[in-house]
Amino acid sequence: MSDSTENTPVTLEVINAMRRQGEKIACLTCYDASFTRVLESAGVDMFIIGDSLGMVLLGYASTAPVTMDDMVYHATSVARVGRHSYRVVDLPKGSYASPVQALASAERLVSEGGAHMVKLEGGVAQAAIVEYLVNHDVPVCGHIGLLPQSVSKAGDYRVQGRDATTAAAILADAHALQDAGAGLLVMECIPAGLGKEVTVAVSMPTIGIGAGPDCDGQVLVLHDMLGITMGRLPRFVHDFLQDAGSIPGAVAAYVCAVKDGSYPAARHCY
Ligand code: KIV
Repeated sequence: MSDSTENTPVTLEVINAMRRQGEKIACLTCYDASFTRVLESAGVDMFIIGDSLGMVLLGYASTAPVTMDDMVYHATSVARVGRHSYRVVDLPKGSYASPVQALASAERLVSEGGAHMVKLEGGVAQAAIVEYLVNHDVPVCGHIGLLPQSVSKAGDYRVQGRDATTAAAILADAHALQDAGAGLLVMECIPAGLGKEVTVAVSMPTIGIGAGPDCDGQVLVLHDMLGITMGRLPRFVHDFLQDAGSIPGAVAAYVCAVKDGSYPAARHCY
């Protein structure tokens, strides 16, 4: 088991060691202090303080309106009580349009929001910004496949990389991010076979959300895995609260299922 079940902080080195040793990385989104305590008690290795908070907490129809102030507010709430899980915080849309703006935004997420790493969406197109951040000592997580910040209508939330051309573009995105120095890679809503191909091709740990069982770790939006998101959910979402009966139980069941490889099952994959 990783150190995340004890009180030792999970660092990027620990996450890399988990990949090398074949231990799956259990990750969830997290946006506030109470859930930080619950998730850490259940052994969640890593949090993404994601701009999905715009949809699940703030009631927006997409992540686009989320501001830097929103991200700092929620990241700070998590960091204030967080003791050992690794914290990745999203750069919201519009906060990384140039390298200089990206660095100012990222430094704010680190210094005010307690981020251990920042995440941005896009591959080849963002490589120069990733390199600039890494060269200024800001650890970066890439995000490829489905890019919620680029979605303009509900129907655009669909599986990416289903054909050879788009799959090759996603693989090229992964390589570009790795070459630029990204330390982690989130892959959203892609076929399981492509999730495996990218994971084998890169040396950084991959975290899948609808990207199949062969990623080094898994992430879900907290409210989705607790069954409290209304409307039609993607097939990769599993309601862990239904069987567990309590929120701490649901999170513990998720951690177990990620670690033992029973989540995601074939029915959760594309
Ligand atoms: O914003 C978010 O919650 C995310 C995760 C879905 C990975 O980016």
